[in-house]
Amino acid sequence: MDKGRRSSGAGGTERKSQSEKPSVLLRMTALTLICSSGDLSIRSAMEEDTRMLARWRSDPKVIQFYSGRDRPLDEEGVRRHYFGRETDPGASRVEEYQPCILEVAGRPVGFLQFYRILREDALRFGFAPEERTFGIDLFLGETDLWGQGLGARSIDLLCEFLKRERHADRVMADPRVDNPRSVRAFEKARFRKARRLEGHEVFEGVPRDCWLMVR
Ligand SMILES: CC(C)(COP(=O)(O)OP(=O)(O)OC[C@H]1O[C@@H](n2cnc3c(N)ncnc32)[C@H](O)[C@@H]1OP(=O)(O)O)[C@@H](O)C(=O)NCCC(=O)NCCS
Repeated sequence: MDKGRRSSGAGGTERKSQSEKPSVLLRMTALTLICSSGDLSIRSAMEEDTRMLARWRSDPKVIQFYSGRDRPLDEEGVRRHYFGRETDPGASRVEEYQPCILEVAGRPVGFLQFYRILREDALRFGFAPEERTFGIDLFLGETDLWGQGLGARSIDLLCEFLKRERHADRVMADPRVDNPRSVRAFEKARFRKARRLEGHEVFEGVPRDCWLMVR
């Protein structure tokens, strides 16, 4: 699955959009909460998040690691990509797809998504197809928060939710080998490297190796 969907800036001085005002966000979180622990919450992404997602998905600092600088998304792109699945050919590759927003103490800081791995992909990855395997991806759109443990904590929180509420037998991720911070964040969240996937992701025009990581 495409990393933009699957498988992909901060702008702290930028004027916040209407949809990012705290009272509106508090209400949105209450309505769409998926799971939470301490100050971390994961909620469903909604069309109201479009402007924020476009800001993140067009920030070169973010997309040089996620999706690629050759594939920025503007608001129309975000709408099509995350909220217009019926028109997205990539959507047929996954089931139970859920785009999510990560919040810290009510502040939206990043994006996660999860989806059920289909039978043919499960077989390709060497998983028993009757088992429930979910795939996850993420990025922290607020780049000043990188490297403080938020990635590992939010991955762990989402995995616990998938096991408990979605009866996942396994959660997988496929970070690029050349993205060691992401690989390390998954390892901190108790993922292990299962296999190197050669040329698995075409990133900025070049096929790159990825780690198949499982928990
Ligand atoms: C990947 C990402 C979600 C991780 O979240 P995070 O909060 O920054 O990560 P954490 O702080 O939980 O863990 C990062 C770990 O990587 C380590 N790290 C950072 N740079 C590293 C490098 N170049 N080589 C090896 N380890 C590195 C950190 O030291 C930390 O490990 P430690 O706690 O043992 O010291 C976040 O950095 C991000 O959004 N990056 C850009 C988008 C991206 O890469 N998405 C993933 C696509 S698969």
